[in-house]
Amino acid sequence: MNIKCKVTCIDGIIIVNKSYPLPAEYNPMGLTAGTLRAFRKMACSARKEDICLCVYSGFRSYEYQEKLYNRYVSEYGQETADTFSARAGYSEHQTGLAIDVNSADDSFDGTPEALWLAENSWKYGFIIRYPKDKQHITGYKYEPWHVRYIGVQKAKDVYCSGLTLEEYLGIDSVYR
Ligand code: DAL
Ligand code: ZN
Repeated sequence: MNIKCKVTCIDGIIIVNKSYPLPAEYNPMGLTAGTLRAFRKMACSARKEDICLCVYSGFRSYEYQEKLYNRYVSEYGQETADTFSARAGYSEHQTGLAIDVNSADDSFDGTPEALWLAENSWKYGFIIRYPKDKQHITGYKYEPWHVRYIGVQKAKDVYCSGLTLEEYLGIDSVYR
């Protein structure tokens, strides 16, 4: 079967969350060209406002995510790990469409970079994928650094709706 057949796509958006995994073989070998282009454009605009944005974590393979998740499980236990780390095959980072900007640490919250990202990233096609107080919907704690590329028009629509991607598309995010 073609690998693409096993990838969920709704409204032209590749969906990866706790309900919709990717096959282990899905491997774009890095950030997609569109994601990288959009990020560079965004970082360039931000720089003009003295905001420095860089890729802290971009593409992560199935195997890499497996190691990362297992490390968190051994450190924090599975229940806690599941609140902030995706199991292998369930991470948006495996799509090559997600970026952790500057950090993946709670200290990023409230920084000028985090505020800039929240206000402006949609203009470049990104959404803050795991907003505050939406863990019961997205499946993950607030991650002000994790942006997901969905293209400018869709990012604008999601941003203006004030909804999470799950709510916007009418889907859930739960391990079954
Ligand atoms: N931190 C996000 C949820 C991930 O592991 O993909
Ligand atoms: Zn991330």
